[in-house]
Amino acid sequence: MSPAPTPRRTVLRTAGTATLALAAGCGDGAGDAPSATTAPLTPAGSATGPASSPAVPPDSASASASAPAAGELARTSDIPPGGGAVLKDRKVVVTQPREGEFRAFSAVCTHQGCVVATVEDGTINCACHGSRFRIADGSVARGPATRPLPAERITVTGDTIRLA
Ligand code: FES
Repeated sequence: MSPAPTPRRTVLRTAGTATLALAAGCGDGAGDAPSATTAPLTPAGSATGPASSPAVPPDSASASASAPAAGELARTSDIPPGGGAVLKDRKVVVTQPREGEFRAFSAVCTHQGCVVATVEDGTINCACHGSRFRIADGSVARGPATRPLPAERITVTGDTIRLA
């Protein structure tokens, strides 16, 4: 008697939430693939995008991550340690608070809905009214926003960061 094959996708989906939480939060390496997948990802555009929001100054601590391919947010090399990148077209901010620890948040400011502009000096910054959010957890570092940026679930496989 052989049991029905384990529905691997189901298992992966079930485990996915925990894995994502680990990948996004704990960084214990359990969900991180040590093998670097060097897929030929070609930059498909600029994360800085067209001027859809006013006054987006160039940022030194944030990378203008390229959008590697559909479904992928960025490559890990696009996200500087201690900084992050605003992916305006995806309305997502990806940060790397500590080396090898990646987080993602909605890029829509919780104050009045502007897309945040930069990641500098440990904060995600909204240019509209000056709110700042911490790169580690999206919490408010400076108002007028009072609510944190909502976390986005991501997976990191090799050097590829994807929305979960
Ligand atoms: Fe971001 Fe007001 S919309 S600070």
